[in-house]
Amino acid sequence: MIHTDYLIIGSGVAGLTLALKMAERFPDRTVAIVTKSTADESNTKYAQGGIAVVQNESDDSFKKHIEDTLICGDGLCDTSVVEMVVTEGPKRLQELITWGAQFDVAADGHLDLGREGGHSKNRVVHHKDQTGYEIESTILAQVRKMSTIALYDFHFALNLITRDDKCLGAFVLNEQTHEIMVFASDYTILATGGIGKLYGHTTNPAIATGDGIAMANRAGAVITDMEFIQFHPTALYHKDLSATFLISEAVRGFGACLRTKVGRQFMPDYDTRGDLASRDIVSQSIEKELKKSGDACVYLDCTHLNASAFQEHFPMIYENCKLLNIHIEKDWIPVIPAQHYLCGGISVDQHGQTSIANLFACGECARTGLHGANRLASNSLLEALVYADNIFQFLAKATINQAEPVQTLSEWKYNYGSLIDPEFLLKMKSELQVLMQKNVGIVRNDTALFQAQMQLKIWQNQVAGLERRHRTSKEVYELKNMIAVGILVVEQSIKRKENKGGFVKESGSLQTTNSY
Ligand code: FAD
Ligand code: SIN
Repeated sequence: MIHTDYLIIGSGVAGLTLALKMAERFPDRTVAIVTKSTADESNTKYAQGGIAVVQNESDDSFKKHIEDTLICGDGLCDTSVVEMVVTEGPKRLQELITWGAQFDVAADGHLDLGREGGHSKNRVVHHKDQTGYEIESTILAQVRKMSTIALYDFHFALNLITRDDKCLGAFVLNEQTHEIMVFASDYTILATGGIGKLYGHTTNPAIATGDGIAMANRAGAVITDMEFIQFHPTALYHKDLSATFLISEAVRGFGACLRTKVGRQFMPDYDTRGDLASRDIVSQSIEKELKKSGDACVYLDCTHLNASAFQEHFPMIYENCKLLNIHIEKDWIPVIPAQHYLCGGISVDQHGQTSIANLFACGECARTGLHGANRLASNSLLEALVYADNIFQFLAKATINQAEPVQTLSEWKYNYGSLIDPEFLLKMKSELQVLMQKNVGIVRNDTALFQAQMQLKIWQNQVAGLERRHRTSKEVYELKNMIAVGILVVEQSIKRKENKGGFVKESGSLQTTNSY
């Protein structure tokens, strides 16, 4: 058994930031980070556009950033949370810079500020089109210098250990030795990221299987707003690629425009902000255009832009397109909407506390109230930084060494039998992705949701049976977690629809159809 003062599950921006702050302030306390892949693998690493932070107060203001966030959230944000997060932004950005993160600077010597959908001003601080990579590698390098942080990569958290509604740590699978370990902790923090892999088309990497949310749900924590899934309008469309590469919204902020196959610029028909309307509106408009035309994708036209300036700002996007024989100087980029972000998750208060004592959550797995029905672009790295700091401030005042004796493994039913056929699990996973994409996508209706609910419950029982008969593995747990999270998304979509009277405007992320 491993005892630690703080157990952090996940090594994206949220988990790493909290770990580093704890270790810097309390050299006599121990922090364990458990992460299921290489330490840097995360949604964070792939973030492109940047972090929304008010910089230039002569042109921008906290008030405007707050207003933009509230408008985007469709009346469902918690205003006090929005105010808190936006006003904390500059301090958290400065901290990142102190740790060594570098952001692009304009000719006047100030930070270069990009623009994305839903923002009334340029306020997105970025490192070319690889902002997430810069942040992840900077914080990780600092974490690796701290002798009191133990980083367990390729360790998969299976379940939380709870007693009387209090979290005592977690059961963790060492993926290399297949040993199941008990981590006993005073405080446990879930920073496990998003759920993208539930969908056939997503911008998220393979780690995004909703594990933290499923674990918290099994432990009885309150989970909310799961129906608010954000679809990014411009994921690269390529018939041979299953993984979906993102074409940052900052490209539209730079002047690119969306066109149908025959060249019509359609966004002005849907919203006065045109190509820079908020993400939900652009995704829904693309979906409508594709339904009308029967085309497989729409196009992002960059041909009128200064190609060398484009290459300077978006080198990764430029190169990736070129590899696929798309030359942005003369070719339109084929794009489609893809699952991108989860606005809901494990409910937390402003200190990041969940409904279970000693259990906290931050980053994409948490539902803080910042995003409402739809997240404003580049507000999620900001949210992760602010909530990691809030949890740090709160725990810095809380007592430690109060850990209670935890269960031993023998008290918990794990199976060391034979492994399930991996092909079978992969097949089930892809059926789940097809179902979610088709029935629980941008536009949802009653019939499709009820069908999905029924199918997911059948799969849930099937996997429970498999779990009893076969060896506990990461693959089975991921599938079990994805199904459980799928059920939460479907059930909360149905519930939202039933309570709809005035809650969700037609422009909300959960677009409703006539049959709804
Ligand atoms: P993540 O960075 O996803 O980290 C989660 C961690 O948890 C990973 O280390 C993972 O391995 C680990 N984990 C998960 N389950 C387990 C388990 N069972 N056991 C152990 N470890 C586990 N946001 C912005 O604000 N600006 C942007 O420009 C932007 N661009 C984006 C571009 C792309 C392509 C994507 C996918 C997202 C983008 N986002 C952006 C969203 C943003 O990147 C994420 O919301 C944010 O990085 C989430 O950080 P996190 O720390 O909560 O989770
Ligand atoms: C992007 O660069 O388009 C993604 C920004 C975000 O998800 O906030």
